[in-house]
Amino acid sequence: MIPTTLGEIAATVSGRLADGAEPDRLVTGPVEVDSRLPMPGGLFVAVPGERVDGHDFAAEAIGAGAVAVLATRPVGVPAIVVGDSVAALGRLAAGVLARLPAAIVVGVTGSSGKTSTKDLLAAVLPELGPTIAPPGSHNTEIGLPLTVLRADRQTRYLALEMGARGAGHIAYLCEIAPPKVGVVLNVGLAHAESFGSREGIAKAKSELVQALPADGVAVLNADDDRVLAMRELTGARVISYGTSRSAEVRAAAVELDQHGRARFVLRTPAGSAPVALRLVGAHQVSNALATAAAAGVLGLAADRIAAALSAAEPTSRWRMEVAAGPDGITVINDAYNANPDSMRAALQALVAIGRGRRTWAVLGEMRELGAAAADEHEAIGRLVARLNISGLVTVGEGARPIQVGAGREPSGPTESVYVADAQAALALVRARSLSGDVVLVKASRAIGLEQVAAGLLESAAEAGADRTDRQDAGAADRTDRQDAGAADRTDRPDATGTGKAEDR
Ligand SMILES: Nc1ncnc2c1ncn2[C@@H]1O[C@H](COP(=O)(O)OP(=O)(O)OP(=O)(O)O)[C@@H](O)[C@H]1O
Ligand SMILES: [Mg+2]
Repeated sequence: MIPTTLGEIAATVSGRLADGAEPDRLVTGPVEVDSRLPMPGGLFVAVPGERVDGHDFAAEAIGAGAVAVLATRPVGVPAIVVGDSVAALGRLAAGVLARLPAAIVVGVTGSSGKTSTKDLLAAVLPELGPTIAPPGSHNTEIGLPLTVLRADRQTRYLALEMGARGAGHIAYLCEIAPPKVGVVLNVGLAHAESFGSREGIAKAKSELVQALPADGVAVLNADDDRVLAMRELTGARVISYGTSRSAEVRAAAVELDQHGRARFVLRTPAGSAPVALRLVGAHQVSNALATAAAAGVLGLAADRIAAALSAAEPTSRWRMEVAAGPDGITVINDAYNANPDSMRAALQALVAIGRGRRTWAVLGEMRELGAAAADEHEAIGRLVARLNISGLVTVGEGARPIQVGAGREPSGPTESVYVADAQAALALVRARSLSGDVVLVKASRAIGLEQVAAGLLESAAEAGADRTDRQDAGAADRTDRQDAGAADRTDRPDATGTGKAEDR
């Protein structure tokens, strides 16, 4: 965080200094909600959660280098005491950002692809200037201000993911970090349960474009009617992107290579250039166009946008992660989350990658779809059949209608099996898959299907792989461990209840 005294922080958040917190003491380090992270010279925000109370870790945080704690009660170490520490964190971030007028906020919302697009922006915007973007999916009332507080006087761009679980959430995030550019990707059924209807979801997402200033820019997906309709709700200039000819930024000659990665010609009002993505799935074209449109309005030339998009590596884990198992099985791990749109996108990618090979879809429940759940699962099953996917493994009770749907099509998958959980799915695919098969693993995060992907990659090493293969498996293991660590870090705020909507 830019150097700020405890006195200034207290004034910004309307808090009072307690337990020896000196008004002139400077905070210069990171702001964290996880006391296990190093925070030399930083500030620890104690959030009272459902299971764990951050206040219990105040002393630990001071041990980790924090100068003080932002807390809702005195904690026996230097603190700034406020009524609501999450609200105070938001006010602090807003106050700090107001002191950084050179920093431009690019906000991204939508039902699917926020993190993917944010990662692409994080790869492209540095071409224009120093850029801050959160790791993973930090898109909540906690993750977003924590990211904002990493900005400093050098920062020119903040690529921020804005998530919503209900009306007013995005408006609140926009108060903390007023966007100059607002990107709306799509209005799908993700988290439909908490919104009531797709209209409710559209309304919530539109809060981003409503927050834009007159000299701002709304980047809207022309392929999604509900998104394009938001042009009526904003006072900002609109730039549209998509596959339709009317879109200002579009992709021509889209092709997926044998690894499921898209190549296309980027067409913008300012010129055209070829793009070859390193990310898997046709849906990434849409995310790339959104990124291109945003980078274009900020002044980056089309050829530089195309080059940066083509150089962007996958960053956030478990999203269409393709790994070749040593025994010849290709695993597509998309177990991070699932909704109908991302299921369809993943199945299309499975087909592209599996051309001429046997394909397996290991699918679990898409959670939080509300009343639409049964129909939406059934529709996915029908698609599995229509795409001629060879094997369908339906995992868990909530996913059963997928199998039902597949069975309703005249030519279903050769094999369609129901299993109770991830372990049974792993055992089944291990037993039935052959060298050369391609296996897609996807469900809502809570179903834990990443275990299937990890298990399939491991089993190959156990099955007498040679030395090189073992090294490969070792590499996968290392990455998994890192990720477990990362997931754990994100889970910690979750455990305190503070990050409840984190990663959503
Ligand atoms: N434009 C898109 N359309 C459909 N599916 C997409 C799109 N972009 C990404 N996906 C898929 O959606 C899933 C989630 O992607 P990502 O994490 O980028 O989305 P998100 O909006 O950040 O999700 P969350 O709401 O969990 O934060 C992945 O399976 C990914 O492959
Ligand atoms: Mg996300």
